Amino acid sequence: MSKITNKRNNLILPSVIFLFLIAWMILRYGETWLRHLLLYLSNAVWARSLVSSLPIANRVARRFVAGETIADAIQASKTLNDAGMRVTLDFLGESVNNREEALNAGNEILRLLDHIDQNKLDANVSVKLSQIGLKIDKNLTVEIMQSLLERAASYGNMIRMDMEESALVDTTLEIYRDLRYKHGFENVGVVMQAYLFRSEQDVRELINEGAWVRLCKGAYMEPPEVAFPEKNDTDANFVQLTQMLLAANARENGVYLGVATHDEQMINATIDFVHKERINSDEFEFQMLYGVRRDLQDLLVKQGYQVRVYVPYGTAWYPYFVRRLAERPANLWFFISNFIRR
Ligand code: FDA
Repeated sequence: MSKITNKRNNLILPSVIFLFLIAWMILRYGETWLRHLLLYLSNAVWARSLVSSLPIANRVARRFVAGETIADAIQASKTLNDAGMRVTLDFLGESVNNREEALNAGNEILRLLDHIDQNKLDANVSVKLSQIGLKIDKNLTVEIMQSLLERAASYGNMIRMDMEESALVDTTLEIYRDLRYKHGFENVGVVMQAYLFRSEQDVRELINEGAWVRLCKGAYMEPPEVAFPEKNDTDANFVQLTQMLLAANARENGVYLGVATHDEQMINATIDFVHKERINSDEFEFQMLYGVRRDLQDLLVKQGYQVRVYVPYGTAWYPYFVRRLAERPANLWFFISNFIRR
């Protein structure tokens, strides 16, 4: 007992110094540097092994992650379905190092699709292409995606390819079009990121193709050559792209939009637009992350909107978790205060 107390006492002083340092840096330089630091850490292998090994970090990450197993993910999905929400399941993992890891991830997602069907869930699946080998062998990624889409189609289900860092956007869109047009899969969707300059043009093309699109702001560290450095510009682009993707011509072409944000301004701008254009609530959906703004998720369901919650599970939670910290530095206080209290 006294050993544990001593250990905790040993942690308090460094933690308090660390907190003061961060608070001072925020006052001095604003929150942007902290966001950049966290986004750097989300990719740093040394930080990954350090933080992943901390039991406390595992516990705090659970706020954003449904659990480690398919059973945990299915349980969380049932609860959300019962609360009137749809689900997108995500087996955590990205940037695998070899074919075996890519194939293992593919097999887990096949099992996940089986479980979704067996449990009659209102849930589809999201996949990161780097999780199924994009950085090793593009052909392998296409093969795995084909097997996933075939299995999903046999259940009448769909798979969406998450969008990762800007260096992967061209290849991701190429694979999307290959799967859709060369291999004839209708059950595949993509993601657009409002912070990228290129997204307006990509969205125009996807509207012509009648694509199934999720629009989000974008979660990676991008240079000012490719992405809006200022949040206000990303927000303005988000509103513009939402309106393009919800416009009559887009819906007539078959576009179905997932408005993926927790930002009340973006949500209110969407609601104003759908009222003005008399767009039915079944012609689009709001999407939010598991554990983020649950109050808003409930409120939108109560107001009659469709809400889909993105539910990640698995043991490879580190980069996903640190990106969530970067989006809202207040989450970092939550993490640190749990660390001090443990
Ligand atoms: P913003 O970051 O401006 O936050 C607005 C408000 O929302 C905050 O003030 C806070 O109240 C709340 N909030 C936001 N993030 C929070 C958090 N982590 N914890 C607590 N509160 C938070 N990105 C990507 O690059 N590729 C992808 O494929 C996806 N996929 C995806 C799916 C879904 C369903 C969602 C909701 C998001 C993504 N994202 C993503 C992440 C996305 O790009 C973005 O980083 C986050 O959604 C945060 O941006 P917001 O639009 O919520 O606004």
